[in-house]
Amino acid sequence: MILVTGANGMVGSYVKEVLADEDLVLTDIPEMDVCDKSKVFSLVEKHKPALVLHLAAETDVDKCEKEVDHAYRTNAMGVQNVVLACQKFGAEMVYISTGGVFNGKPKQVHTEFDHPDPLNIYSMAKYEGEKIVQDLLNKYYIFRAGWMIGGGPAKDKKFVGKIIELCKTRKELDVVDDKFGSPTFARDFVKGIKKIIKTGNYGLYHLVNSGVCSRYEIALEIVKLLNVKVKVNPVSSDRFPLPASRAASEAMRNYKLELLGINPMPDWKNALGEYVKEWK
Ligand SMILES: NC(=O)c1ccc[n+]([C@@H]2O[C@H](COP(=O)([O-])OP(=O)(O)OC[C@H]3O[C@@H](n4cnc5c(N)ncnc54)[C@H](OP(=O)(O)O)[C@@H]3O)[C@@H](O)[C@H]2O)c1
Repeated sequence: MILVTGANGMVGSYVKEVLADEDLVLTDIPEMDVCDKSKVFSLVEKHKPALVLHLAAETDVDKCEKEVDHAYRTNAMGVQNVVLACQKFGAEMVYISTGGVFNGKPKQVHTEFDHPDPLNIYSMAKYEGEKIVQDLLNKYYIFRAGWMIGGGPAKDKKFVGKIIELCKTRKELDVVDDKFGSPTFARDFVKGIKKIIKTGNYGLYHLVNSGVCSRYEIALEIVKLLNVKVKVNPVSSDRFPLPASRAASEAMRNYKLELLGINPMPDWKNALGEYVKEWK
């Protein structure tokens, strides 16, 4: 049985479909707040899952920058609660981290062997979460995701969802062309997790759609896929000051999975195409 935290989020929205053949317990806040150690322990003790898929997190990067205690309480100490429960009740754990742990130069692509250097509070807390998992568990998988795509009109509050919505009303869009990352379609991501957790190759992996791009390139691709007449202008990130700093590149490749010969992830343009088609 797999117990899922944060199951109502973007990634969680693909869990039922992709892991349909598994016995699932889906939980989320407020009933299951991962910051509440006793709740976490009693739930894990009750269900005795073989694996905990830990998706719960505060994913609003700018909120984390302004509410530092909240960020560390949820994204580091919340992880510790889940880790300790897995340790005590003998469950394997999947923890999701982020390409935001990297502080790369424009277009730089990171492997698992590059050193993290997180720039903002969200990424620092997520990196601490990685260390807690690695320090306290033997049987874990850490998957670093890139710029997440998913959830559809109901749940997508991220970049792709915003651009699709803006294309309905605008004739012109200014989009940042100096930040690079790796799109990660949440359905592909959960499919990848499903495949890798069966192998017993415990450890830390990058799990992103292949290819690297800027926000500007994603917006251009969305306009093409929607077949709308919207002009996309490349602009510098200085145009949109935000509370949290972002690296010039947090792009990744699934190098360890490539070396193992089990990289399951398709190209980002194919993944985006599938997602936009579903949205339409
Ligand atoms: N989204 C991205 O771009 C991205 C990129 C890289 C990695 N990740 C990681 O991927 C994982 C899944 O993220 P996602 O994209 O599915 O984010 P999401 O859509 O924000 O989902 C996270 C879920 O966790 C819930 N949650 C927040 N605080 C909680 C708490 N204290 N206890 C229990 N549940 C709590 C959220 O509820 P509320 O909505 O009510 O807060 C939400 O349902 C996270 O570990 C995230 O850090 C995400």
